[in-house]
Amino acid sequence: MLENVDICVGLAWGDEAKGKIVSSLSQSDTYDIVCRWAGGSNAGHTIWIQNRKYITHLVPCGILFNKLSIIGPDCVLHIPSFFNEIKYLRENGFDTSKVKVSPSCHIVSDDHIYEDTQKESNALGTTSQGIRQCYRDKYARIGTRAIDCPELHSYLWDGKLHGNVLCEGAQGFWLDINCGNYPYVTSSTTLPYGACSLGFSPKKIRTIYGAAKMYDTRSGVDPDFPESLLQDEELKSIATLGEEYGNTTGRPRIVNWLNMNKLVKAINQSGTTMVIMSKGDVLETVGVYRVFSVYAQKLISFPNMVSMKKYIESELKGYCLDLTHVIFSESAKLMSISQMR
Ligand code: IMP
Ligand code: MG
Repeated sequence: MLENVDICVGLAWGDEAKGKIVSSLSQSDTYDIVCRWAGGSNAGHTIWIQNRKYITHLVPCGILFNKLSIIGPDCVLHIPSFFNEIKYLRENGFDTSKVKVSPSCHIVSDDHIYEDTQKESNALGTTSQGIRQCYRDKYARIGTRAIDCPELHSYLWDGKLHGNVLCEGAQGFWLDINCGNYPYVTSSTTLPYGACSLGFSPKKIRTIYGAAKMYDTRSGVDPDFPESLLQDEELKSIATLGEEYGNTTGRPRIVNWLNMNKLVKAINQSGTTMVIMSKGDVLETVGVYRVFSVYAQKLISFPNMVSMKKYIESELKGYCLDLTHVIFSESAKLMSISQMR
C-alpha cells in the first residue's frame, strides 16, 4: 500500500542542488521508491558519493542508492540517451534492474532533437534535447510512447506504488510552463501537483522540500537575466567560484542576486514546507552579501553571512506562512575542495 509521498521541488530556474537533497534523502531507509515526474534529459542532477561526482539526466538519483527508480508518465525519453545513461550507471557499479519507465512516457525522436537544434530553438536557449517538440506531439496526440517500443519492454513499470515515495523534481518553479517567463520556460510542469501524474492523490503528499540557492542563476536565454549581468565583477566571481555552468549544455549560467519576491512566491505556490538554501559558502568566499528584499523592494547588503541568513529567514517566515523550516546548506563541491586543501 502507498503510504506517504514527499517531494523535492526546485524553487528557482533549476540548478538549486536538488540532486544533493534527493540523494541525502534517498540514502536513508525512509523511502522505498524514487520517481521523476516531468521533463527529460534537459535536466542534470549532480550527486557526490564519497568524493566522487555522478551526473544523472533522466534516471532518478535513487538508483545510486539501490531504490526502485521510476520515470513517470509525464516524462519524455530519448531511447539512445536513456541507454547511454543505463550504461554509464552500470559501468559505475550501480544495479540498473530497478530502473522502471512508465508505459505512457513519451518518446523523444532524433527528429525532435534535430528540430530543437535549429535557429528558432537556439533563440529560446533550449537545452537542444527535443523536449518541446516531444511535448508538442504528445499534446497533439500523435506521439509515440514507451509501450510502443520493444526495446523498452523489460523496463516497463507496472504502475504500482507502495510504501514511502520520494519524487524528484526537475528544473524549477520559474521554468514551469504556466508560472515562468513564457516562452522562456520548459514544456512541462515543475510544480508538485505535476507529481500526481504518477498516480496518487494530492492528499498523499506529506513534506515538500524546496531547493533554492543563496543567489539566482539562469542557464539559457531569459530577458529577466540580461547579458549585462555577465559583466558585473562580483557576480562574475560568484559564477566562477560556484562553478555555474550547465551540466547538460556546458553553457555559463547568468548569475544575479537572490530575488526574495520570486522565492517567496515560489515557496507559497509550490506548498514548500521546508526550504533548503545552498551555496552560501560561495558568497562567503567572494565576501559580498546581497539580496533583493521583499520588504524594502530593493537590493540590500549585509556585512556578513550571519546577518544575511538571519534576514532571509525572517523574510521567509514572515511571508511564507506554511513554511516550517529554513535550512542553510553548504555546497558539496566546495566542501570537497576545502577538504583537499
Ligand atoms: P528545454 O527544457 O530544453 O526546452 O529548455 C527551455 C529552458 O529551460 C532553457 O532556458 C533551458 O536552459 C532551461 N532548462 C531546461 N532544463 C533545465 C535544467 O535542468 N536546469 C536549468 N535550466 C534548464
Ligand atoms: Mg541541473
